[in-house]
Amino acid sequence: MGKETGLKDVPDTLLQRLSEYLTAKTGLQFLNKNRDNLHRNMISAMTDFGFEDVVGFVEWLLSTSPTQEQIEILASHLTVGETYFFREKNTFETLEHSMLPGLIDTRRKTDKRLRFWSAGCSTGEEAYSLAILIDRLIPDLRDWNVTIIATDINAFALRKAGEGIYSDWSFRDTPPFFKDKYFERVKENRYRLLPGIRKMVTFSYLNLSEDVYPSLQNNTNALDVILCRNVLMYFAPDYIRRTVERFYRSLVEGGFLIVSPVETSQVYYSQYATVRFRDSIFYKKDTLKEKQGYRVEKHVEKTISLPPAQKVKYGISKKLPHTKRYDLPKKPAVQVLTPNEEADALYRKGFYREAEERLGPIVSNGRSSPEALVLYTKILANQGKLADAFRWCEKAVSADRSNAYLHYLLAVILEEQRRFEDAKVSLKRAIYLDHNFALAYFALANLSLRLGRIAEARKHFNNTTEILSKYKPDEIIPESEGITARRFSEMISAVRL
Ligand SMILES: C[S@@+](CC[C@H](N)C(=O)[O-])C[C@H]1O[C@@H](n2cnc3c(N)ncnc32)[C@H](O)[C@@H]1O
Repeated sequence: MGKETGLKDVPDTLLQRLSEYLTAKTGLQFLNKNRDNLHRNMISAMTDFGFEDVVGFVEWLLSTSPTQEQIEILASHLTVGETYFFREKNTFETLEHSMLPGLIDTRRKTDKRLRFWSAGCSTGEEAYSLAILIDRLIPDLRDWNVTIIATDINAFALRKAGEGIYSDWSFRDTPPFFKDKYFERVKENRYRLLPGIRKMVTFSYLNLSEDVYPSLQNNTNALDVILCRNVLMYFAPDYIRRTVERFYRSLVEGGFLIVSPVETSQVYYSQYATVRFRDSIFYKKDTLKEKQGYRVEKHVEKTISLPPAQKVKYGISKKLPHTKRYDLPKKPAVQVLTPNEEADALYRKGFYREAEERLGPIVSNGRSSPEALVLYTKILANQGKLADAFRWCEKAVSADRSNAYLHYLLAVILEEQRRFEDAKVSLKRAIYLDHNFALAYFALANLSLRLGRIAEARKHFNNTTEILSKYKPDEIIPESEGITARRFSEMISAVRL
């Protein structure tokens, strides 16, 4: 390697530490046989960080706590962004002919709402293929509330995705009519996706190896379908497990996780029901299957050992540390959970229906605590039951009008229901009650952005930044589900207005 590059080799021990460090930050696995590759990637990354000596660069990297921006840069050198429209045709044919028609029929009779996530979307071809499919399958799309989010760790890829301009190489497996119908030629070998389709997809940065989903905040909750294809194959086993478990909690009951055919496995998806459609295998969230598999009975569930819920600023129970799904203690009951705690434990494991069953009778008796109402609201929202979530959140607000968080939660639901002006009013109430509510300012900024009100958005982003400056960089922002002030500031600068 040294001879090849004219640079000093990174010693094996340092390379080993580097690979562990990078796995911890990105989930990516760097096997011994790929060490030369890693070495080469570091050489290509070091200039972006202003280094001329790869050993010095690696040593520096290992001694720092990287910012999101630095991780983005590193990721762009470490990841494979290979993708194209309608990649793995069988999967899209199954979606088009077997899976989506049933789902669309069901939703047509209820709330006309569908939610998709392309996780590890690279330059966007996967998410846009899905958008085109939806456009083809739902003639009255205007009357529907369809959300397609697409996320990646590589900010450069995301920027390209947002532009929606592609070369012939991205169309390598699509018939000619496809390009003619959905794209306009902008110059030689450059085609721009029609704005109507482009607007159907929202791109954002998300590192799948971080515990930031499911979350109402970044819209990674209550999903019907998650496409995470050709991503997990690059992850270390532990990170695959954690990611797949978080996806489970991000899905609604009956929702599907779709991986690429080479990523199917009997080990990693045992929590899901395996569904064979034509030539494809999809993984379905089916809590009944899960319960049978684990033989969880009511009295046993009561023995799940969890630390008591902690209280935070607005009296809402704080995230509990994740425990393995139904990792039941070998010895009999240590701690008997209250129904609220049981519901909370079920909620955190993605068993939303069971959590609803447990908490429903308690909140319905009209004497429940604000914490229980908030939990119940979230349980409903995570199942996509927005109208019910709204109703219960309103009850919580009526019971405690001066609770800023409740107004914020109501705003999140209202925005999801596309009641943008109402959402704005609720956010303003939250801010009126707590002038330092960073999350509410941030939500207001994003809402303004969504409505195309740029000056307003800028003002609210500035307010958020000002509030964040009062926190230490590693301090966790209240009600943010674990986001530090530093990370928050990076999220704001990533918007680049
Ligand atoms: C081969 S592409 C897959 C694109 C598309 N899903 C497909 O199948 O065509 C893999 C993508 O995963 C992304 N990726 C890798 N590690 C990630 C992580 N920790 N979080 C989010 N995205 C990640 C890479 O940046 C890259 O864009």
